[in-house]
This record gives sequence, structure tokens and C-alpha cells, in this order.
Amino acid sequence: MALREIRLQGDPILYKESRPVEKMTQRTSILIDDMIETMYDGEGIGLAAPQVGILRRLFVIDTAEEGEENHPLVFINPEILETKGEQSGTEGCLSVPGKVASVIRPSYVKLKAFDRDMREFIMEAENVLARVILHEYDHLNGHLYPEKADGPLLDVEDIEESDDSDAVIEGKEPISVTYI
Ligand code: NI
Repeated sequence: MALREIRLQGDPILYKESRPVEKMTQRTSILIDDMIETMYDGEGIGLAAPQVGILRRLFVIDTAEEGEENHPLVFINPEILETKGEQSGTEGCLSVPGKVASVIRPSYVKLKAFDRDMREFIMEAENVLARVILHEYDHLNGHLYPEKADGPLLDVEDIEESDDSDAVIEGKEPISVTYI
């Protein structure tokens, strides 16, 4: 495995639409491993392929907390089937280092995707996991969270000093996953 270079805000590749993954190849499998390693290295909880310069519809997520065992989830060719509700929370992005902003998103998402064995599954997620899925999904369509921010971009350091810095970390496990 190897670390990949993370593209930063302003890099044209981050604003392009990604293409579907047609089949699992060794190259794509290595990409997935590298993305997971790069995500952990950056202390991120999600990373989409365009963030490492690859315009493919693929992202990885791990919302396990510090001290918990790693639990990476791989989403290939995801398709949002349903969203419900609303949540407001703080978001950051490995492509926008050192910054965070409040973003309003649905509190529930149901999506269809393929795992790294190209098995199709349906997942329902809430709260933080729903937020991360929707954030990563946006990357596949060339969107970064600052476009959707409900307020100014703030420096992470300023946020960490304030009392209510803890993002709500609940519902990080999927409600249900069904392979289809
Ligand atoms: Ni991001």
C-alpha cells in the first residue's frame, strides 16, 4: 500500500464528474487500499477517488472512533435512493485542510452501491454516517462542501478552542445493509 497525494481545493480535478467503475481490476483494488491508507494517514473519516486524482465513482469511509478497531467501508458506483430529514453539523474535508463549516444535510440516506468484490448492496444510514456518505458522494459529482456551507469557513484551531467542539458522533453504524 502507498499513500496518494491528496488534491486540494482549487485543483480542477475536484470539480469534475467521475465515471463509473466498470469492473474490479488489480489497479482499482490497489487504489482502494491506497485510499484507505491515505484516509487514515490524514485522520479523515472519508475519502473519494477524485481527491487522489482518479475520476472514478468510488469512495471509502471509516467512522470508527479513536481506540476502536478500523472498519473501512467501500462504496463503488453509489446511487442515492432516498434521503429524509435534516441535520446540521460541522464538516471538514481532506481537500480543504484546516477548515470546517456548518453544513445542513439530510439526516437519513438510503443508497445502493457495490463493495470491493463488486457485490451490490443497499445501505441505510443516519446522522454522521449519512453526512459522510453524502459528502463523499458529492465529490463524485465535482462538489466540495464549502459550496453548501451554512455559514463561513472557520479555522479548525478556532473551533477546537470552543466548548461545543464535539461533533455529534452517533449512529455511525449503518441501520441496515442488505446485499442484493
Ligand atoms: Ni471531502
